[in-house]
Amino acid sequence: MHFSVSFISALLLVSSSSLATSVANSRISAQNATVEALVYAFPLQPYVTFANSVANQSGGQWTTNALVHETTLANASFRTIILPNVDTLYSAALLDLSAGDVVVSMPAVEEGRFFVWPFYDLYGNNVCNIGTVTNSTPGKYLIQYRASNPGCAPAQGEYEGIISLPTVYGATLLRIEVSNASDVAHVVSAIQPQFSLAARPPAAVPRAPRLTAALLNGNFSTADPPRYLMELLARVAAYNPPEDASDVPRISAVFAAAGISLAKHTYTPPAGVDLMSAYTAATRAVAAVSSTPADFVALGGGWETTPPLPLGRLPHALRRARQHRAECSFFANETYVVEFFGKPPVGGFWSLTMYGGDGFLVPNAIDRYSVNDRGNMTYPDGTLVYGGGSPSDSDEPFYVLLQSTDHAVSAEWESNWLPTPANSGEFHFVLRWYGPTESLTNGTYKYPNITAVAVNPPLPSSA
Ligand SMILES: *[C@@H]1O[C@H](CO)[C@@H](O)[C@H](O)[C@H]1NC(C)=O
Ligand SMILES: *[C@@H]1O[C@H](CO)[C@@H](O)[C@H](O)[C@H]1NC(C)=O
Ligand SMILES: *[C@@H]1O[C@H](CO)[C@@H](O)[C@H](O)[C@H]1NC(C)=O
Ligand SMILES: *[C@@H]1O[C@H](CO)[C@@H](O)[C@H](O)[C@H]1NC(C)=O
Ligand SMILES: *[C@@H]1O[C@H](CO)[C@@H](O)[C@H](O)[C@H]1NC(C)=O
Ligand SMILES: *[C@@H]1O[C@H](CO)[C@@H](O)[C@H](O)[C@H]1NC(C)=O
Ligand SMILES: *[C@@H]1O[C@H](CO)[C@@H](O)[C@H](O)[C@H]1NC(C)=O
Ligand SMILES: *[C@@H]1O[C@H](CO)[C@@H](O)[C@H](O)[C@H]1NC(C)=O
Ligand SMILES: *[C@@H]1O[C@H](CO)[C@@H](O)[C@H](O)[C@H]1NC(C)=O
Repeated sequence: MHFSVSFISALLLVSSSSLATSVANSRISAQNATVEALVYAFPLQPYVTFANSVANQSGGQWTTNALVHETTLANASFRTIILPNVDTLYSAALLDLSAGDVVVSMPAVEEGRFFVWPFYDLYGNNVCNIGTVTNSTPGKYLIQYRASNPGCAPAQGEYEGIISLPTVYGATLLRIEVSNASDVAHVVSAIQPQFSLAARPPAAVPRAPRLTAALLNGNFSTADPPRYLMELLARVAAYNPPEDASDVPRISAVFAAAGISLAKHTYTPPAGVDLMSAYTAATRAVAAVSSTPADFVALGGGWETTPPLPLGRLPHALRRARQHRAECSFFANETYVVEFFGKPPVGGFWSLTMYGGDGFLVPNAIDRYSVNDRGNMTYPDGTLVYGGGSPSDSDEPFYVLLQSTDHAVSAEWESNWLPTPANSGEFHFVLRWYGPTESLTNGTYKYPNITAVAVNPPLPSSA
């Protein structure tokens, strides 16, 4: 069985050459180059969708380098993205470094309020994270285009750190932890407004065209997806090189062979290229990665996760595809007990979130979509797991009941009940670690065990 775990925070600064196929010095056919260019271009499509929703605020006013705050948590009627988390509120911004650098202001927030502030390049690679989860110092950070190797760079002058983005365009998605539904208003009114972005005075010579709605949307025919992707890539590729600079010659050769001019920002299909079959091959390449068992890391007890990959080598499309791999499904005609072997060792917080077969949150009478370190879960003897005085590294087991909303839950399970769908629906669940510690990845922490049981089983004995 496979259950899914998502690690949120780690700074993925892995450098490796093992994934690069060495074609820099060999000739590549126009057809093959087109396949590779399309794989490279896939992440641009979701970027444009994201941009058109985040930057296009209040009556069509296009805004970059400014945070747009989300003010509600997902619930069962939320259908915009699958597998939404119910732990954090998002604040999003489109980053445009074409005219100059951008200053990030990160406040000192109240004690115990966790947040993670990730920065992404144009292709969706997570370049750097700051926040409580990474113990970052509050203050100002500077986002620069290729100030050094892409990633987080140390403090400099008035800045607590430099965020070195490998592409001129990018994105950011701050997530602030929310304890419960009644905590949302406080986060929205008192915490979100303390975070901000501000463009520095523009440089004399712009690095690239401004990131406008026209740049991302103008003059394209989206009716022909492969052609659209190649044209979009041609328009932005020159200013948005691969994360790993050593890949630039190889990627440039691939683009040239595929008919993309980095100088003119145009796409001209080379003679003999079958764009549709290249598109099919590119789609298939992504699908193959996402269904390869070897691409997942087993964590024990059936749990698995997607591994951190070297950045700038594999376009993000491949990684995104992996993350959306279907987990093993369960059916709500069965009841299960999840045994946690002690409190998960996280630097931040954690959650176990329930999803229906469609990937959306499961409607239920008590509006509970997850169990986590902020609720009222109890040990079998009735004492609180969190907030009850037991040490944060206690290895005392506690139990979660996965039982359909069709059955009234017995009183002793109520605080540890995570409702599963009605009518024998399908479900699956995701464990999220915000600020995972090494023990979660090196085999020291034993992952939860899941056992099928009768409806409203007796509480496990606490011995
Ligand atoms: C093109 O790709 C095919 C299939 O991956 C491969 O067999 C062939 O060697 C490649 N040819 C060139 C010139 O890159
Ligand atoms: C921006 O929003 C306006 C309406 O608010 C809409 O008419 C326009 O098409 C949007 N632009 C893009 C690029 O999505
Ligand atoms: C779900 O969220 C939406 C949007 O925030 C809200 O309008 C609706 O009342 C919520 N539904 C429930 C059951 O809480
Ligand atoms: C909600 O969370 C806040 C902040 O952690 C806490 O003070 C409050 O007691 C919680 N309320 C409920 C109803 O659990
Ligand atoms: C779109 O086409 C018009 C007219 O051909 C041209 O003036 C404009 O620069 C083009 N816009 C982009 C973003 O290429
Ligand atoms: C639960 O439903 C699944 C799918 O319909 C079925 O395969 C399974 O036998 C059912 N189990 C029970 C205990 O009814
Ligand atoms: C925790 O228990 C309190 C008191 O019974 C209740 O008000 C609150 O809603 C519970 N919190 C959660 C997250 O279930
Ligand atoms: C795993 O990490 C924890 C925490 O850093 C450490 O105490 C433990 O010795 C490590 N175990 C192994 C097998 O590396
Ligand atoms: C999981 O629970 C089952 C049933 O209680 C038990 O047989 C099995 O040994 C447990 N597995 C682990 C890894 O603890």
